[in-house]
Amino acid sequence: MTTALPADATAFLTDFHAVAEIGATPNAGVDRQAATPEDRETREWFRTYAESRGWEVRVDGIGNQFALLNLTSNAPYVLLGSHLDSQPLGGRFDGAYGVIAGLHAADRIARRVSTGAAPHAPTYNLAVVNWFNEEGGRFAPSIMGSSVFAGIMDEAEMREVRDLRGISVREALESIGYLGTDERPDIASYAEIHIEQGRILEREGIPIGAVDASWHTQKLDIEVLGEQSHTGATLMSDRHDALLGAAKVIQRVHEVTDLFPPETLVSSVGQLTLEPNSPIVVARRVHLVADLRADDREVVRSARDKILSDIREIEAEHGLVINARDFDVRANQLYPEAGLQLTEQVADALGTGARRIRTMAGHDSVAMNRIAPTVMLFIPSVDGVSHCEREFSRDEDMVTGVEFLTEVAWRLVHG
Ligand code: GLV
Ligand code: MN
Ligand code: MN
Ligand code: MN
Repeated sequence: MTTALPADATAFLTDFHAVAEIGATPNAGVDRQAATPEDRETREWFRTYAESRGWEVRVDGIGNQFALLNLTSNAPYVLLGSHLDSQPLGGRFDGAYGVIAGLHAADRIARRVSTGAAPHAPTYNLAVVNWFNEEGGRFAPSIMGSSVFAGIMDEAEMREVRDLRGISVREALESIGYLGTDERPDIASYAEIHIEQGRILEREGIPIGAVDASWHTQKLDIEVLGEQSHTGATLMSDRHDALLGAAKVIQRVHEVTDLFPPETLVSSVGQLTLEPNSPIVVARRVHLVADLRADDREVVRSARDKILSDIREIEAEHGLVINARDFDVRANQLYPEAGLQLTEQVADALGTGARRIRTMAGHDSVAMNRIAPTVMLFIPSVDGVSHCEREFSRDEDMVTGVEFLTEVAWRLVHG
């Protein structure tokens, strides 16, 4: 099927599908959580791709990996990228598509520049990044590497974040050989392409989305403290069951969405740890993380306040102590109009069409948008599913996206 495609498209698809083999799971997904051996393998692939083309590779103090192309002297970089890490049992497109597309776009631009195809020499240099720990499944908060780069998170603090087994970011990065010391590149602008993870583009038959805004998101880090006791010998009236309290918290986190018009607010609890986790012990402690997202920050704030007041009721009803703290709060933001217009010009030039779209999911561009002119592109996701093995985007949509990103980057480096 790929034989009729141009060589560039075939080369991209070959690389994309080869990277999908790293950390492959039984049902066509990947499991490449941050700073694991599988993450190391994708990093080695990235390094080989860049070094075999003579590009400089750097790794900074939070494990962000950069490939730098020298197109002109003494100029900052147009940075393309996304992340190669995944959720546990994640999809093979989320993040990886954007990094591999970035590398291929850079390669095409390097070839065009070397053949003198440009109207004038590039104004900027070009770089590609594989951001550390966008997913936040193993080490929370998510979007960690790009947020440190953007100065929103503190590098020293993030290096000490621990996973559920007590391993720190620093130790995990050291163990895979990716705790770097290299200088970060100065950047002029940032562009990222990603799968939509929703179904708007698919439904409307539009190949490219231009992200014009990101939702307001926040997590609530919740610790439910009860009293450990025997599940048989303890009278029902004497129990202070942390797991029962946690179950009620989870239900309230879900029900709070009913206070708003449908799909105005989305919420979930996706992680829970239980101590001591025995069938014959009433739980003493449960840790859980709630995730709240809406277009409007006031909606998120009022949902959060309602959950906190529900928590006080649950505490009183079951004789528990429940600690809750705000965590990973990201204000909703607009993406720059100049980048949206650039995307629309490219859509006209390539004849693809594009539509403006919001992102409800988090991305590295959400951090980068705080410090640099940022462009964020989406390609369609089949059935809109993501963060699961069934995640899928079609080869032809991926190929269109790489061409599109190349054109955007071409214009940015000549900006
Ligand atoms: C992480 O993948 C997020 O969407 O926040
Ligand atoms: Mn992603
Ligand atoms: Mn993701
Ligand atoms: Mn994400």
